[in-house]
Amino acid sequence: MASTVLTGIKPTGTPHLGNFVGAIKPALALAGTASNALYFVADYHALNVIHDAQKLRALVHEVAATWLALGLDPEKVIFYRQSDVPEIFELTWILSCFTAKGLMNRAHAYKAAVARNMESRAGASGAANVEDMDDLDAGINMGLYSYPVLMAADILLFKTNVVPVGKDQVQHIEIARDIAQRFNAIYGPTLVLPAARISADTAVIPGLDGRKMSKSYDNTIQLFVPPEKLRKTIFKYKTDSSPPSEPKDPDASPLFHLYREFATPEETEALRGRYRSGIGWGEAKEAVFEVLNRALEEPRRRYAELMADPAGVDALLAEGAVRARQIASATLQETRRAVGAR
Ligand code: TRP
Repeated sequence: MASTVLTGIKPTGTPHLGNFVGAIKPALALAGTASNALYFVADYHALNVIHDAQKLRALVHEVAATWLALGLDPEKVIFYRQSDVPEIFELTWILSCFTAKGLMNRAHAYKAAVARNMESRAGASGAANVEDMDDLDAGINMGLYSYPVLMAADILLFKTNVVPVGKDQVQHIEIARDIAQRFNAIYGPTLVLPAARISADTAVIPGLDGRKMSKSYDNTIQLFVPPEKLRKTIFKYKTDSSPPSEPKDPDASPLFHLYREFATPEETEALRGRYRSGIGWGEAKEAVFEVLNRALEEPRRRYAELMADPAGVDALLAEGAVRARQIASATLQETRRAVGAR
């Protein structure tokens, strides 16, 4: 079946192992099954929080190098930087003229920012009623407010069918559908309605303390550290004090879940047996280190290469943008014509 998959990667931090297993791996697998795949670094989405040019540039390189090192093949996936495709921003304006303001008022990120203001103001003055409070939009820029329209343009410009995203992004896909429907109701079928494909939560890979792996819990495993550091990190996994000889339940062990993500089915069964007959946690950790290090050896080398050559990464993204713009300009033309522009 002919289908277009597209996703945006916000450059706000270096992806960790949980991101790799929960989002990057499945997105790359999905790209392999699509007739058309477009993955891009959403730098203008990051601009509503990152106001430091050098930092933004560095983050774009990091995140692009990460995806490339982990197997994104730019021959098969159109890989670009959002700000290299000006058509996106023209479509953003057109779409914003078909987006109910009330819809934006209900977007999660905006509502959360308002709620934070409400809380801190109520806390500061002891005021319970809204009228006494200062401006609830304080510190919120239009970029944050209009974020869902930009994201709708990212998606609709490429007649995207499927968008692999985390659960937190589902509302944004629904907003994109809403906007496309409203546009099509007026001008006839022009824009394609996208569907979200929800990737597994990063909770499938528990962090070092057993909670969901997350930067905010400071329990992550970094992807491209040297082997010795990787080994040390894995040895920090929290385990109980049961003795090595005691049989252990593999399915209840975060270490086992991590192992199976990177081991062959035979290796997984073998380790399952060792858990059942009793395994020391040190041995279990060593086993995880071995399969993980095996999987990350090549990406680690590739990542270092790419990070040493930012101009090369830029050139690669620029080539992707040329291909993206071919598709983009066709949809933009149709859309312009539909509304009565030239
Ligand atoms: N908003 C997404 C995030 O925060 C990133 C993103 C931007 C995106 N544009 C997109 C995702 C288009 C999917 C499709 O993760």
